[in-house]
Amino acid sequence: GEQQLQEHFDRTIAHDQRIEPRDWMPEAYRRTLVRQIAQHAHSEIIGMQPEGEWITRAPSLRRKAILFAKVQDEAGHGLYLYSAAETLGADRADLTERLIEGRQKYSSIFNYPTMNFADVGVIGWFVDGAAICNQVPLCRSSYGPYARAMVRICKEESFHQRQGYELLMTMMRGTEAQRRMVQDAVDRWWWPSLMMFGPPDGDSPNTAKSMAWHIKRHSNDELRQRFVDMTVPQAEKLGVVLPDPQLRWNEERGHHDFGTPDWSELKRVISGDGPCNAQRMTRRRAAHEDGAWVREAASAYAAKQAAGVAE
Ligand code: ACO
Repeated sequence: GEQQLQEHFDRTIAHDQRIEPRDWMPEAYRRTLVRQIAQHAHSEIIGMQPEGEWITRAPSLRRKAILFAKVQDEAGHGLYLYSAAETLGADRADLTERLIEGRQKYSSIFNYPTMNFADVGVIGWFVDGAAICNQVPLCRSSYGPYARAMVRICKEESFHQRQGYELLMTMMRGTEAQRRMVQDAVDRWWWPSLMMFGPPDGDSPNTAKSMAWHIKRHSNDELRQRFVDMTVPQAEKLGVVLPDPQLRWNEERGHHDFGTPDWSELKRVISGDGPCNAQRMTRRRAAHEDGAWVREAASAYAAKQAAGVAE
């Protein structure tokens, strides 16, 4: 009965084995996974916009080709993640509807504007760097299809991060004006990047349950710390200053101390009131509506094929 199924599930989690789509799972585990995977997929898709704006304005053919490929990778990540959500019984069209109606979230970070080409580099360095810190442990997430999607996504994210850092290195070797552009982009993206990891642990309603289920492997604050520790030496090497006067190495803890992000800003951005939320949603909605004929044509074709097979 139900109790035996629950015990089997608990043992699978306790032994760090994987839950697969056909396995029994508690309804709350399924709901949490659909929530997190859908938010993650939406983030990848909305995340194409801030950088996509620079494809037509890239400074060289080489930078344009790189950026094109990167933005295309984000679309791919969104698609594998929607597929992972489908293995849990979610319907992709329904998830898209929920996003468009503002009933499902996507990452706060993609609601900030990209002001110049240095932002493309800083997004690669910080945003994809934060994504790696958050997602490498998700490769060991208890739900098989999600964990496996993460393996490929992390490889691509790590390439994206190097791409961003290399772009910034090139700009830092350029003119004084280029170095100022890089510093300005670092100043604007640092705090929002720290907020990507979510609210502080004391204010994170989902963490305890998600960690008990081995969906999440580390808390929001642990991963934020890991990101700060990873990024500080990279900033030194690059020759930029991270905009936090409280940032310093703490010998005793073996970690960097750092200031507190403006959590009220994170709440505002999550609730729809960030600098670009309206623009991102309007574009996403328009892209969905503009694509309606493609979906209709594909469905009509599939129906015709199915009828042909039946004959
Ligand atoms: N932006 C938007 N919403 C957020 C953010 C954020 N930066 N951080 C937390 N939230 C939301 C949570 O989704 C949750 O909302 P919900 O309960 O309505 O779903 C609420 O704020 C409270 O947060 P937590 O209890 O800490 O939520 P959770 O345990 O899900 O942790 C986290 C949030 C760390 C983002 C987790 O969901 C996660 O690891 N997701 C997978 C990675 C991901 O989605 N990355 C997207 C950006 S990276 C990229 O796309 C390149």
